[in-house]
Amino acid sequence: MTDYKQISKAVISRLPRYYRYLGELMEEGIERISSNELSARMKVTASQIRQDLNNFGGFGQQGYGYNVKYLYAEIARILGIDRQHNLIIIGAGNLGQAIANYTNFEKRGFIIKGMFDINPRLIGLVVRGAKIRGIDDLEQFIVENEVQIAALTIPKSKAPEIADRLVKAGIKAIWNFAHTDLSVPDDVVVENVHLSESLMRLSYRVCSMQDERERREKEQLS
Ligand code: NAI
Repeated sequence: MTDYKQISKAVISRLPRYYRYLGELMEEGIERISSNELSARMKVTASQIRQDLNNFGGFGQQGYGYNVKYLYAEIARILGIDRQHNLIIIGAGNLGQAIANYTNFEKRGFIIKGMFDINPRLIGLVVRGAKIRGIDDLEQFIVENEVQIAALTIPKSKAPEIADRLVKAGIKAIWNFAHTDLSVPDDVVVENVHLSESLMRLSYRVCSMQDERERREKEQLS
């Protein structure tokens, strides 16, 4: 079995993209694909693909290509999405409800068991099968439902206190949308998701391209 502790973080961070493309290939009924064909689809060099996928025991064979189904299943195993992960959402506002309404997470094994909020007008409502509960029920619910992951979609001022409660209740992972860095013990993982950071990177790229275009236009005029 592949020891994936040896695999670099950079490679792991690229696996979800491979997984998505392999899923599309399976939907198209494609059983085998060469690194060159995958390279053309993914706009990544074939040598990068070979280097990345060689980490998993070289699924490719010379002149034969990669077995799509096998690779798809193996990447799922490495990412741990072949198992079920029970998830709760803390903060059932706009973002929390948007996450609960997205059906694809379940297809990846992430089961939304419930939502929590402090707003009495929200408590008791059900969003696509997930009931919104009062935050007082948090600890008991985590234990009873073997919840591993908590999505934090609450204001940042409330996030540290709730994160502490989650950790004490045995949560293993926090999917943090609140705009604050959480401090948690080493055995708890935090994945920060900040759409605004992604937008700022986009802004940088679009501005750089615009500046470059203007510079070239000036050069042509002079
Ligand atoms: P919202 O105001 O619609 O929802 C927040 C919900 O959290 C409310 O229902 C509120 O009652 C609840 N809440 C407040 N304190 C709580 C507590 N101690 N325990 C449980 N529930 C509590 O806000 P929205 O738009 O859903 O955003 C939620 C948070 O996510 C905000 O902090 C916002 O800045 C952040 N956000 C982050 C994004 C990202 O990319 N990381 C994108 C959009 C929003």
